[in-house]
Amino acid sequence: MNIKEGIKLTKNLPGEKTRKILKLKETYEPRSMSEQVPAVWERARGVYVEDVEGNVFLDFSSGVLVANVGHSHPRLVKVIREQADRVINCYDFPTEYRLQLARKLVEITPFNLNKAFLLTTGAETTETAVKLSRLYTGKYEIVSFYGAFHGRTYGALSIGGKKSGAGTHGFGPFLPGMILAPFPYCYRCPFDRRYPACKTYCFDFIVDWVLPCESEGRIAAFITETYQGGAGSIIPPLEWMKKLEKLAREKEALLIIDEVQASFGRTGRLFGFEHYGVTPNLLCLGKGITSSVPLSALVGESRVMDMLTPGSLSSTHGGNPFCSRVALENINIIMEDDLVENARQGGEFLSKSFRELLSRHSILGDVRGMGLVWGLEIVEDKKSKKPSPEKAREIVQKAYNRGLLMIAPIGTFGNVLRIAPPLSISRKELETGIEIIDSALSEAGKE
Ligand SMILES: Cc1ncc(COP(=O)(O)O)c(C=O)c1O
Repeated sequence: MNIKEGIKLTKNLPGEKTRKILKLKETYEPRSMSEQVPAVWERARGVYVEDVEGNVFLDFSSGVLVANVGHSHPRLVKVIREQADRVINCYDFPTEYRLQLARKLVEITPFNLNKAFLLTTGAETTETAVKLSRLYTGKYEIVSFYGAFHGRTYGALSIGGKKSGAGTHGFGPFLPGMILAPFPYCYRCPFDRRYPACKTYCFDFIVDWVLPCESEGRIAAFITETYQGGAGSIIPPLEWMKKLEKLAREKEALLIIDEVQASFGRTGRLFGFEHYGVTPNLLCLGKGITSSVPLSALVGESRVMDMLTPGSLSSTHGGNPFCSRVALENINIIMEDDLVENARQGGEFLSKSFRELLSRHSILGDVRGMGLVWGLEIVEDKKSKKPSPEKAREIVQKAYNRGLLMIAPIGTFGNVLRIAPPLSISRKELETGIEIIDSALSEAGKE
């Protein structure tokens, strides 16, 4: 399959065929999925996506931060074909590929993490991390953060930091024993302070108020993302993360880092926690671990992981040889093609470019990111900072009309554009995407 590189658009978006397929969606599916622009994907290769009309879009979504090595990388396609012909699923009978992958994950993560449990989805890893923390510590409280996203199953939603809105509204009550604490969302500081002058006051608030008032002193774990993805690419100050690690140790609780989204080069380091110099006891991985097929992993310390007795946890598709082999090949591609470095350099370029856009566009309130994951916060105006989810949606639509694919806006207030191209993207392609965002911002800013 070949997609001729470069954006190509037919006159009317969306076309007839697209409209027909969207009608089927309306008729036969619940309305639970996010409202994406009307691009019906037919094929994707590298950083380009072709829809059913033959339009070619530049992809700033990577699916949903999955296709780190690019869509349908030829090396992945090759092993997928080969392995499909051998064996795909064999439940939890051991296979060479599963064990090679477990070993690889142990080798590329910090020395204290020496066992890997392979699963299928990100939510399974965060749920398993919660279970293991309780089992290991004999305590039950889990501290997580406002705005956090750890998946959509019940345990994962219970540690999620947004219980209102479309995501969770009406699903409660959630698991007991979960404590939510403020996260350093510096652009909208709930304490109206400014970093660094605030000296991470929000962290002191956790120690002085949240824990004394909410905790019985039975904390099993603290769980955080390295940057909050769903909340709008919110990056905590380095010292905040260090303080969190110290607090977890003091409380004899585990530190769970959820890198389902941040890992495998996305932030310009192989793992996001490397930016902060902290070490998790349990590490949740997913998405970019295969750049394609569903596989996730919980990597942890053997003293914790070995609390699980035989038969206590397994999963129908977890660690199947098909997905394991793809993950192994994917990790090799990331290393051999130096995609982490490409993401780091791309991040430097985006940082400069987005800051320049920030100085020119009145509806752009904040830009933040690392490597190839950025959030552009859309507001009514810079002074009021009032979130504008409507304008954010408009910009995503205008970008689509110009041949750039972005996911529907994210963020606690639904007003953040998410920029997350495959890590293999070139400088020229980044420039093209930025130009489109620039013109979409100009047009939306005038309306
Ligand atoms: C940080 C984080 N944790 C967990 C999940 C859940 O992963 P999944 O949708 O594979 O269950 C996601 C998915 O977006 C995520 O971003």
